[in-house]
Amino acid sequence: TKPIRIAPSILSADFAKLGEEVRAVDNAGADWIHVDVMDGHFVPNITIGPAVVKALRPHSEKTFDVHLMISPVDAYLEEFAEAGADILTVHPEAGAHTHRTIQTIKALGKKAGLSLNPGTPTNVLDYLIDELDLILVMSVNPGFGGQSFIDSQLRKIEDIRRRIDASGRDIDLEVDGGINADTSQRVRDAGADALVAGSATFKGGPSAYADNIAALRGEE
Ligand code: DX5
Ligand code: ZN
Repeated sequence: TKPIRIAPSILSADFAKLGEEVRAVDNAGADWIHVDVMDGHFVPNITIGPAVVKALRPHSEKTFDVHLMISPVDAYLEEFAEAGADILTVHPEAGAHTHRTIQTIKALGKKAGLSLNPGTPTNVLDYLIDELDLILVMSVNPGFGGQSFIDSQLRKIEDIRRRIDASGRDIDLEVDGGINADTSQRVRDAGADALVAGSATFKGGPSAYADNIAALRGEE
């Protein structure tokens, strides 16, 4: 199994100093930078677009893990790729042709992720798993940071871990929403190898980031 990757969600960072915040979590040991893109249509919140990804790109060489909660999504893939995204993750509900969307991401030379909302069953993976580099399990309903972890998603993580192992492919299993030092342990035990954490990373300000990230890894 892979070492656990921690992906701070900059949704919980200080938006007035995003560049500094990205450098701070990079220095504090973050593996990836998780960027939550919301459109006020697919989810009930509006966050950031490709211009912000581009502006942040020079601030870190870590993987930019871009979570697209926008619909329609296809028209924006190229712009996010050019802005510096390394992973582009989409939701199957965000367009009528998810397979084509995944192919478009790969043709742009980026890693392709598929995200499952809490109510989305794993059978959506049946004919897509062989195309994917990452599967993102939402353990809250997407839209906001600081929500509580939905326990039923542990069973989904275990199910997807079995599917990934059976596929024999190198697919990251990432979990997003309500991850803190406690839920982190349960999610890792269920088979996740990448954890998104917004509020649990950024609480306490920059001097706390390294300890917060270590706790999420289970190093406390
Ligand atoms: C929710 C976003 C998450 C969110 C996580 O829609 O996809 O990435 O920022 O925030 P926490 O870790 O605070 O639940
Ligand atoms: Zn996210």
